[in-house]
Amino acid sequence: MLKILPEISRTLSEYLLLPGLTTEDCTPDRVDLGAPLVRHRNGEEPALRIALPLVSAIMQAVSSPTLAVALARAGGLSFVHQNQRVEDQAADVRAVKRHGAEAATSPHASLDPAGRLRVGAGINSRDFADRVPALAEAGADLLCLDSSDGYSVHQARTLAHARETYGEALPVGAGNVVDGRAFRYLADAGAAFVKVGIGGGAICTTRAQKGIGRGQASALIDVVRARDAYAQETGTYVPLCCDGGLLDDAHMTMALAMGADFIMLGRYFARLDESPNPKVELDGRWYKEYWGEGSRRAQNAARYGQRGRMVFEEGVDGYVPYAGGLPEAVARTRAKITSTMISCGSTTLRDFHRDAVLVPVSAESFKQTGAEVRLRRPALTPGG
Ligand code: IMP
Repeated sequence: MLKILPEISRTLSEYLLLPGLTTEDCTPDRVDLGAPLVRHRNGEEPALRIALPLVSAIMQAVSSPTLAVALARAGGLSFVHQNQRVEDQAADVRAVKRHGAEAATSPHASLDPAGRLRVGAGINSRDFADRVPALAEAGADLLCLDSSDGYSVHQARTLAHARETYGEALPVGAGNVVDGRAFRYLADAGAAFVKVGIGGGAICTTRAQKGIGRGQASALIDVVRARDAYAQETGTYVPLCCDGGLLDDAHMTMALAMGADFIMLGRYFARLDESPNPKVELDGRWYKEYWGEGSRRAQNAARYGQRGRMVFEEGVDGYVPYAGGLPEAVARTRAKITSTMISCGSTTLRDFHRDAVLVPVSAESFKQTGAEVRLRRPALTPGG
């Protein structure tokens, strides 16, 4: 029997938040953006947390050691990309771990118990038997399976192998998924966290090439329900990472309001000084190059489940407007998320998940979101 879900697939920009009661407690210094990174018993502290719920995409054009250091200092976490030889990726992880000592300057920095900056790394379900031990040796704090479609026995097998070898000492996240069935499968298989999103990335052509995917809002809402049901049934909370298509700060806030624990960003970090991709001038404006892991340029056959050479592309190779340094960009984003949470009366992400009230917007009300006025003056800040 042909199955067609009754709901339309919706994106994050199709929703708005209603303000909630702002009390005296709702001040910027009291807002805590801390997020759990790994599975834990309900009500207990997770073994890994970040102070800022932003992680960088597992991509060549994004997650270099330089970016990983800057992001960990700001309170987030990078996942060093896996589209390179095992020894090169392990060297990238080591390079980040060697900076530890300097990190004490930042109050939010993501630090391991030895005071070194934390860093994650991408893995795949093919060469994990070689890659995982090398990354563990290099000191990676957290791993993540890097695939456009994570609902597979290959991911379950990789998770089982890592758990048998390292137990809780080296947690591994899995994904990507867009519905509750796939979430439950990976949660049962022992995923440390589950990553949500197929086809929404700024450089992504998966939906056009393969017809697979789901609007990010619909995917997230479905998976959040599954996560909460899973926590109630099993007593285990498995955090969710919203990945792809978060084009501006309002999308990030919306994803957090809908129940994402933390968010993964590619384009956002690719625009900044710290990303490894070249900065170029075109017609008097500065850009940075940004290409998908499924583009011919990246040739990341592991992520796309193709053996050997790629036979078709699932990503674009292009430019994104240059937007300055990471600390400034992240400070602006932090301020915007904080400000929205205050409007909604929430001071922690957990409260925000519980209290947020969302409303879908009609195509007509979409037109009234200030686009006409925005055309008249340049933006206040780059990327702002
Ligand atoms: P962005 O933040 O919208 O740029 O999306 C980044 C996300 O897009 C990554 O974390 C991946 O999940 C996904 N992605 C990366 N490269 C490709 C690609 O070539 N095709 C499709 N999706 C991609």
